[in-house]
Amino acid sequence: MKGIILAGGKGTRLYPTTRGICKQLIPIYDKPMVYYALSVLMLAGIKDILIITTQNALINFQDLFGKGEELGVNISYAAQDQPRGIAESFLIGKGFIGKDKVCLILGDNIFFGHGLPDLLQDAVNQEEGATIFGYYVRDPRRYAIIEFDEKENVTALQEKPAHPRSNWAVTGLYFYDNEVIKIAETLVPSARGELEITDVNNAYLARGKLQLTRLGRGYAWLDTGTCDSLIDASMFIKTIEDRQGLKIGCIEEIAYRMGYLTRDALEKIARQIHTSYGEYLLRIVEEERSS
Ligand code: G1P
Repeated sequence: MKGIILAGGKGTRLYPTTRGICKQLIPIYDKPMVYYALSVLMLAGIKDILIITTQNALINFQDLFGKGEELGVNISYAAQDQPRGIAESFLIGKGFIGKDKVCLILGDNIFFGHGLPDLLQDAVNQEEGATIFGYYVRDPRRYAIIEFDEKENVTALQEKPAHPRSNWAVTGLYFYDNEVIKIAETLVPSARGELEITDVNNAYLARGKLQLTRLGRGYAWLDTGTCDSLIDASMFIKTIEDRQGLKIGCIEEIAYRMGYLTRDALEKIARQIHTSYGEYLLRIVEEERSS
């Protein structure tokens, strides 16, 4: 399975900050926002990853991750020159996806909760169709909304409805079989001029191949599009990390625990980062050495 991180857009709701820097590179507490999305793909066991971002930001992401070799994964890059919608990812990434299945995650989404890797694995193992993840939110008008029956079969999906008939939002994490490329090729831009991911999901729904996984109350799903949601997410991450002394979205730790990095390779990375982040990685190295 391939993985795509969509880290494009103009980030206008964070102006002036995002006039000079791509939104997904600004920090959520102690690491760049995109680390959280990348960590989800890594926890799903996905090693071939395409980052789609703006032409201007390509070089910044390349500076951050290179080809992914430091993390034991393969990272490549592509530009989305205009914000033409989330579903354009499959057209931009067509060659990268090839004949494979694909997972798409939005670069400004944060997922946290016990058991997440198992849920991801179930979606990875799905042979055909699509899997979306639902999360109960207070203000559903900001998202695509899911209606479903008592057996959790999706009955309707609506993008940002004015009068939502459910509080279950579609999160920015999607798994698809290879049909997604053909479906994306048939899409026409919506009223806001975008190729809508909800149209892709509705195409799967019409074929009876859309699977819903609900993230229950024990999960946190945060998005980080506004100044308020940005600081809320930072405070959330800081609170948990301070309390546990364990980091969220720490891609180097995940790479090590997934077996992609040796202890020596992790130590090398740790010694280059002269902050509490590097100290955390060093602590893992020490603990592993003495265990
Ligand atoms: C996008 C999708 C929407 C989804 C949301 C999740 O919204 O269009 O269906 O619920 O991401 O973050 P947008 O970023 O376009 O407002």
